[in-house]
Order: sequence, then structure tokens, then C-alpha cells
Amino acid sequence: MTGKTAFRALAAALLLNGTMPAFAQEADPNTLAPSSDPKRVANGLALTPPMGWNSWNKFACNVNEKIIRDTADAMASNGMKDAGYRYIVIDDCWHGQRDENGFVTADPVKFPSGIKALADYIHSKGLKFGIYSDAGRQTCGGRPGSQGHEYQDALTYARWGVDYLKYDWCNTGTRNAEEAYALMADALRATGRDIVFSLCEWGNNRPWLWGQKIGNLWRTTGDITDKWEGKYGYSWGMLNILDMNEPLWPFAGPGHWNDPDMLEVGNGGMTDAEYRSHFSLWAIMAAPLIAGNDIANMDAATREILLNRDVIAVNQDALGVQGRRVSRDGNREVWVKPLSGGGRAVVLFNRSAQPETISLGWEALGYPATLKASIRDLWAHKDLKPAVGGYSATVPGHGVVMLKVQP
Ligand code: GLA
Repeated sequence: MTGKTAFRALAAALLLNGTMPAFAQEADPNTLAPSSDPKRVANGLALTPPMGWNSWNKFACNVNEKIIRDTADAMASNGMKDAGYRYIVIDDCWHGQRDENGFVTADPVKFPSGIKALADYIHSKGLKFGIYSDAGRQTCGGRPGSQGHEYQDALTYARWGVDYLKYDWCNTGTRNAEEAYALMADALRATGRDIVFSLCEWGNNRPWLWGQKIGNLWRTTGDITDKWEGKYGYSWGMLNILDMNEPLWPFAGPGHWNDPDMLEVGNGGMTDAEYRSHFSLWAIMAAPLIAGNDIANMDAATREILLNRDVIAVNQDALGVQGRRVSRDGNREVWVKPLSGGGRAVVLFNRSAQPETISLGWEALGYPATLKASIRDLWAHKDLKPAVGGYSATVPGHGVVMLKVQP
């Protein structure tokens, strides 16, 4: 670890929790060391960030089995499955009542065929199926929560064929977050089924400090909204979420990821350039890539963003280090993620509305200035001329240039 990097990790840890957790020292982009310690792994799942789709950002409570089936059909046939997207996750509001024995049921009007049939359908397409619950007595949408029914619900999910659980934090009163999430993790483990566990308590109780042994991903912030910037009630624009998630880079690694919330790409509130930035920055942060748009009815520009395999490869790199901002000069930023094989992914990010020239020196990547490196432009899908010392590019307003640099 270089002096500067060590200082940065220490500062981040002090800022976040007042003490220096042992594993915060392990993620060092310059030594290429991932932060996973096998003793602390929750379940061996999600060794790369989960990829899939979730109903909430686009459909909120208006979900039904037709939407979910159409989405599965789309994912299986539009190239997303081939690009690595796997999980189809129904968020809040799928629930009916609990039956006379306390077992949860599906809303009989929205899901007349039942959840098991839906899961079977999704599995028949070679995809995986996720569902949503809450650690309180009610979900955020007022449906039955899992408090007091943890083992019963986990068993129900396993019988239905659930592969992923997003577990929310509404109506939890005075519950202790770590205990509440650990209880559900135990219940899921007791079923014997492989179920990715997604903790959604919005970063309130610093889940990056204890989530690794419990689940595979934890939300680090409140809800994202389909806007470039700003605060909207309990929700935040993309830039705000980005800046909250960035300093947490030391806590991510294979099997345990910071989750800055689902993608808004294609939902209409940002420009295509802004969505390219959103997708590139989520990818370089090793964030879960969970599409949140109507993938059964998306336009070509949206498709091209979600299906950019060069960018997806950065996100899914086996080393599993979360990229971070290494320099910021006004609106001009350089983000770097070390990759297996010694290369680096780079995002040159322009926060201003006007084009800006952003320069990158190889030292920012931990390389000697004299090094000759090959460069690939991940949005142009083109190999550029190998360069010595660095690279500079004109970056469109609110846009990115994303590169892979390989010595
Ligand atoms: C919370 C979560 C969201 C979504 C809704 C559902 O706000 O953070 O991601 O799951 O609840 O009600």
C-alpha cells in the first residue's frame, strides 16, 4: 500500500466509523489485493456483482405476473442473458395475506398463477428468480413483512424456487439491524437453498462494517431517483448516490458488494449521455447491475448501454475491487479500477454541462510514466494507439470516456 493510498483508506475508515476495521486495509487498488477473507464470506454466492432486473424503479407497486413473464422473455431473448444478466427480482407489493398457519401468499389478482409457477417459468428460460421482503412487520408498501415469520418465509421462498432475496428495512421500530439481518441469513441458510441475500437498510447502520458475513450486497444509501442530481424527499439523484457510495470502496469484494441502488438507465429522466455515465460509474464501482427500466419495451440507445459488454466486463472482473475516484479537478474526475491481469479500467468523468478535456497520467494508475500501454475505448469499442505516459480526451458534457489500459 502506498503512503497516499494508506492515508486514504484510513481517512475513509475514520470518517465512516471512528475506528479502523481490519478488513478496510485489504482493498488496495495498487497492490491488486481483493478484500475478501474466506472466514467472513456469507454463503459463497455472488463472487462478481449480481446482474439482473428489479421491478421497483419502473413499476413500483404496479407489478403483476404478466410484467414479470414479459420481462423474463425479454431478458432471455434480447441479448441481456448472454451478456450476463440473470436475476429477475419482484420488488414490493407481490404479497397477499398470510394464511391461517402464517404462511405468506401471493396477491391472487396480480399473481393468479402463484409464485411457484412464475419461478418455474423464469427458471425454464435459464434465468434466476428473486423476491422481496422486509425485516419489519410490514413492507414499505404496507404488505406483510417477515418479522416473526423469518424461518417460515425462508422455507416458503425455498419451496417456490427463490434464488435471491432483497430484504428491506421499513417498519422495523427498535430492531437491531445486524441481528435482524443475521436472523434472516440463518433462516435462508437453514433451507439449504442457494439464495443471494441483498440487505436494503439504506446504509443507516453502516452495513459495510458487518454485512459481509451476513449477505452478498448492502444498500449504502437511500433510494435513487431518475435524476442527474438533487434530493427528492427520501430519494437522491444519481450524482448524490455516486458520491455517497464512492468512499466505501474498501469494503467491497467478491461475495460482498456495496449497493448504490438499481439502475435508472432507460427510465427517461436523464439524457443518454447521462445514462452512459450512470452505467459506467456503477460498473467501475463494482456495483450490482440491476436494470430498473421496462426491458421488454426499451429503445435502441438504452439497449446499447445495458448491453455494452466491454463495460460489463469491467464490472464483472474476477478481482472484484471497487473502483474509486483518484483525482478531481473542478468538474473533471478520473476514476480507476484495477483488473485481473494487471490492467486498469478508467472513467474520465465530466460533471459540467460543457465538454471538457480530461488528462490522465499513468502514475494515477500506479504505473511508471515511461510505460507504454495499450488503450481500448469501451464506448467506441475501439483499440486506440498505444501510448507512453498517459492519455487525454475531450469528454462530452455530463459524459464519460471509459477506457481499459493494459501495460
Ligand atoms: C424501499 C427500498 C426500495 C423499494 C421500496 C419498496 O424504499 O429502498 O428500493 O424496495 O422500499 O417499497
